[in-house]
Amino acid sequence: MGQSVFQKDLFKGKVAFVTGGGSGICLGITRHLMQHGADTAILGRKTERLVQAASDLEASTGNKCAAITCDVRDPKAVETAIAATLERFGRIDFVVNGAAGNFLAPAAQLSYNGFRTVMDIDANGTFNVCRAAFDAYLRDHGGVILNISATLHYGATPMQIHASAAKAAIDSMTRTLAVEWAGLGIRINGIAPGPIDDTEGMSRLAPGDLKDRMIASIPIKRFGTIDEIANLAVFLCSDAASLIHGATIVADGGAWMGMTKSLAG
Ligand code: NAP
Ligand code: COA
Repeated sequence: MGQSVFQKDLFKGKVAFVTGGGSGICLGITRHLMQHGADTAILGRKTERLVQAASDLEASTGNKCAAITCDVRDPKAVETAIAATLERFGRIDFVVNGAAGNFLAPAAQLSYNGFRTVMDIDANGTFNVCRAAFDAYLRDHGGVILNISATLHYGATPMQIHASAAKAAIDSMTRTLAVEWAGLGIRINGIAPGPIDDTEGMSRLAPGDLKDRMIASIPIKRFGTIDEIANLAVFLCSDAASLIHGATIVADGGAWMGMTKSLAG
């Protein structure tokens, strides 16, 4: 990460709970939150990768990171993870829902379980985490929730009916929770990244020369970076975003509008 435009101690004393924080975009978000003073808990299913990530994050930022093995599809496991975070750090100020699964599959070949699995991780997982964090801490103390979405469902994305449906559900939850929980000092927003370089998501979804064809349709002619999404997350967690509530902010260099532009010539 280069020089941050945000104050270094912006999140001193704060704690973030980040699902999917062991890799990719949410590892980047976790790093940026820690570089601005936060302690964190990162969640995923792969213990070894989480532990390594937590150790690297602590070494590079000087703040604390708890690695918590947890499948977000399991509400009891999520409740346990929230309790472990509160036990360790005493508070949860930011909840980032980034855990997700995706792969390319035409609807006609996608199994029932394939569809259900992605809905379960992305949509149910997001609800499970919001609900458990609300009960255990946010209802009484307020906080910020960031739901990581996508732009797949703004139009139609063939081969990704599962992830598109799941992210649409997440955006809906972002709006509903923003209305239901606003009076409790809980601010809820989403981030909808476009294609982001050096991520598992893009290695799965933009294989081979598809990447070049995608870039050709993106107005800024490049993929985004993990740091660019992490900077947006830092902003949305900060008080500078105090009026932003129930919004899902697109960060994609205009990618989702690319098709419209190419049709316009
Ligand atoms: P990634 O590195 O594969 O991140 C997904 C994370 O979710 C992994 O750390 C994974 O860890 C965790 N996860 C998956 N299933 C889980 C489960 N059942 N319980 C708990 N954790 C689980 O992929 P990424 O590309 O950085 O994507 C991060 C987020 O950005 C996702 O929400 C994705 O939809 C969104 N996004 C990405 C792009 C992109 O260009 N990459 C674009 C738009 C949106 P384990 O395997 O250890 O469980
Ligand atoms: N194409 C079609 N179907 C697929 C598939 C693919 N590439 N990958 C998995 N599936 C199907 C499986 O066949 C299975 O359905 P079935 O029982 O009818 O055969 C179903 O999806 C569940 O697969 P399984 O491997 O048991 O799920 P899991 O819970 O172990 O893993 C995934 C979840 C499938 C989403 C896995 O890809 C994953 O862990 N992803 C996390 C990382 C990721 O996707 N990152 C990118 C985020 S944008």
